[in-house]
Amino acid sequence: MTNLLLTPPTGPLEISRQPAYRTQSGPQATTDATVMLSLIVPTYNESNNVPKIIEQLTQLLDNFVPENYELILVDDNSPDFTWQIAQTLTDKYPQLHVMRREAEKGLSSAVIRGWQAANGSVLGVIDADLQHPPEILLKLLSAITDGADLAVASRHVEGGGVSDWSVIRRFLSRGAQILGLIVCPAVVGRVSDPMSGFFMVRRSAIASHPLNPLGYKILLEVIGRGQFGEIAEVCDVFLEREEGESKVTWKQYFEYIGHLVRLRSQSGLIGNLNHVKKSFPTRRFIRYGIVGLIGIVVDMAILFLLHSALGIGLTTSKLIAAETAILSNFLWNDSWTFADMVGRQTGLGHRLKRLLKFNATCVAGLFLDVLTLNLFFNIIFAQNLPYLANLIAIGLVALWNFWVNWKLNWRVTAAS
Ligand code: GDD
Ligand code: MN
Repeated sequence: MTNLLLTPPTGPLEISRQPAYRTQSGPQATTDATVMLSLIVPTYNESNNVPKIIEQLTQLLDNFVPENYELILVDDNSPDFTWQIAQTLTDKYPQLHVMRREAEKGLSSAVIRGWQAANGSVLGVIDADLQHPPEILLKLLSAITDGADLAVASRHVEGGGVSDWSVIRRFLSRGAQILGLIVCPAVVGRVSDPMSGFFMVRRSAIASHPLNPLGYKILLEVIGRGQFGEIAEVCDVFLEREEGESKVTWKQYFEYIGHLVRLRSQSGLIGNLNHVKKSFPTRRFIRYGIVGLIGIVVDMAILFLLHSALGIGLTTSKLIAAETAILSNFLWNDSWTFADMVGRQTGLGHRLKRLLKFNATCVAGLFLDVLTLNLFFNIIFAQNLPYLANLIAIGLVALWNFWVNWKLNWRVTAAS
């Protein structure tokens, strides 16, 4: 029996505590039983990918949670009739349901509308374009049944990655993440891959909080508004698209920034700071600070040696001194401050990569330092108190450097 199209829910984007108990009409009208997992597959012009992804997903889930899941494909009235093609597949795959949206558009709201119509107690999402290896699905589900409230497929845990991304794309992706770490540290810093669009969440963790996403990154919204105990991360390799095209344009980058600002302003400075305060790694930060002080001593000593003792020019001496200090700081941080996070990534290649990232962060930190100093001195203190302005700039940049090193450069979350 062909499943009827699901009617897109309207009203606020809020998930109810209880499953939707959707009723099927048609000759053998039944009320769908609740299921464990509802997996949303958002689509826009994915007609060539849909048969394959649905087949792969059903094959996996039929073995793992037979009859205890549903797939909800949410299509935004694609010109290539993705929804219609999907609809014809429901004969063969009774677990598949299709929602065709005509009034509303956009990836994030598509996912939430799908969850609103869902009968499951675990809510998930996966891209339709086969860019995520589907077998990771089972790992995500296992993580949830093992007790996690949120399980994220991450490209930044051991074993994860992106396949053929250009340097520019990697740079943009990481840049976006760093921006997020500054604007919304409590949200973006909670997982290693906040940009992931492949995850599962317990209904109870996000129910009854109105969601208000903007653009593509629904996971940000989920983390920002939900309530989680344990969060699990599973390694994900982002494959290249074989059929169809990505819908990402520059617009999504601006929407992402808008989304961050919205999350920031709606979560309130104090509420969010409390969250950060609770999980702030004081010991680690103190170690980082001590390493910084050692760096100053190294820098001074080399400068003295090269400039005063050997008579080398000041700029050259300072550059060598600073770079030596960076190298020394790196070694201390790698073997002390973040030693526990290095895990199995101890090979020379990994170490070198971390050193380059650390170095880049230090250089970026210097720019930020000059920028914040100017900001505080010229704008906030009205050209008064230059040394206080400098102290604040140094403090803020130290915090920023620490945060980026901790959350990005050394982070190699072990895959669960
Ligand atoms: N319903 C609906 N409406 N679906 C959409 C829309 C839309 O406006 N835009 C995109 N999609 C669907 C696509 O058809 C695809 O199945 C999925 O959302 C991801 O879109 P892509 O255009 O392929 O994006 P990507 O390859 O850059 O993916 C990146 O962003 C995704 C979304 O956050 C990656 O980070 C993914 O992991 C992530 O899922
Ligand atoms: Mn894609």
